[in-house]
Amino acid sequence: MPATHAPRLTSERLVLRAWTDDDRRPLEDLCADPVVMAHFPAPLTPAGTADLLARSDRSWDDDGYGLWAVELLPTAPTGPAACIGTVGLARADWLAPGTVEVLWRLAAAHWGHGYAPEAATVALAFAFLQLGLEEVVALTVPANTQSLRVMEKVGMAHDPARDADHPRVDPTVHPHLVRHTVWSVTRDDWLALHADHV
Ligand SMILES: CC(C)(COP(=O)(O)OP(=O)(O)OC[C@H]1O[C@@H](n2cnc3c(N)ncnc32)[C@H](O)[C@@H]1OP(=O)(O)O)[C@@H](O)C(=O)NCCC(=O)NCCS
Repeated sequence: MPATHAPRLTSERLVLRAWTDDDRRPLEDLCADPVVMAHFPAPLTPAGTADLLARSDRSWDDDGYGLWAVELLPTAPTGPAACIGTVGLARADWLAPGTVEVLWRLAAAHWGHGYAPEAATVALAFAFLQLGLEEVVALTVPANTQSLRVMEKVGMAHDPARDADHPRVDPTVHPHLVRHTVWSVTRDDWLALHADHV
């Protein structure tokens, strides 16, 4: 697995860092878990997970952002753990050119401790303070209430006028996975929310 340019970033209980060879197996396992992938067309094969990491590596090279491995510090309630999943930034040009989304995917054993919002807050700080992005969006299907809750927790808001059909989901096979709700936060709104910390 090639090293990426992902910077090492920390929060109270988490480390966001570049991928290592040791992360491949835990990431493959969680991407193959039907519970974790319930709101996607299908769990990923090992080749699908390798493709995810390859796209992330290209994105770090081309765009200056991508996916981080999320590691738990000993202070975490379910930690320490080497790799519990991923959080990151990715292009969502299909929505509108130049759109950047924040995304998250964690192993089910670590759900419910607020790790995703904590990791996403670090990723959003990177997006707004390091990259200088004007806005970051998050997308999911309406049934993914867990992910919607994370969007709410990190200060994003839903604009129904921006909801859109995902072009890579086949409506004849997965009609309930086509429509995506679009949440977003602007840099100004995010900075106002975090005025005490930046
Ligand atoms: C979405 C996800 C990253 C949330 O991570 P997390 O660290 O558990 O986030 P939180 O702890 O803040 O929990 C968010 C909500 O999930 C729900 N939740 C928590 N633990 C849960 C569990 N074990 N089972 C089902 N739902 C749970 C709760 O409603 C919680 O909200 P609350 O804190 O107000 O009660 C995680 O559920 C996940 O990886 N899901 C699968 C991948 C995915 O769908 N990613 C998003 C694609 S857009």
